[in-house]
Amino acid sequence: MRIQPLALVAALTTVALPAIAVADAADDAIKARQGYYQMVKHNAGMLFGMAKGDIAYDAEMANTHAGNLSALANLNTGSMWPQGSDKASKPGKTRALPVAWETFPAIMEKQDAFVKASGALAANAGGGLDALRANIGPLGASCKGCHDTYRAKEF
Ligand code: HEC
Repeated sequence: MRIQPLALVAALTTVALPAIAVADAADDAIKARQGYYQMVKHNAGMLFGMAKGDIAYDAEMANTHAGNLSALANLNTGSMWPQGSDKASKPGKTRALPVAWETFPAIMEKQDAFVKASGALAANAGGGLDALRANIGPLGASCKGCHDTYRAKEF
């Protein structure tokens, strides 16, 4: 059977577009950024685990997760932070505090710390457990540094 390209396009538009149109843009962005931070947590968690000795050090694994983390830190996530997606506008759904929008671009300093810390790990974490440990401190500090100011404890 030959698929008619135009028919396929028509089928995709009728099925997919209304589904996107009805979704709340702020809710969608909140889900995206929480998913993003779950990926950050997964990759950082592997590195914290190896540094603590809870997970056996493996150079290739350390390199992979540090590289992933650095790639995540360097993503442009601007569209995941629309106006109206803060905790005051969406209580119960997000922990992102309004101050992130009110004082923007101050939060970018915290993001820069995350970019630098993950970059140093990407360059060094595969070079042995001591090299991983020597570079892990600033990573943990970069998470905490942002959360202390911009993330609420509760949803
Ligand atoms: C530039 C600021 C910033 C940095 C850096 C940052 N976070 Fe976050 N993080 C946030 C904010 C804001 C939220 C709340 C997002 C929401 O609920 O909409 C969050 C949420 C999270 C969540 C919860 C996601 C969910 O499912 O609700 C985890 C886990 C997390 N961060 C882990 C980390 C780790 C680990 C690091 C460091 C490796 C890190 N974050 C670095 C700002 C940051």
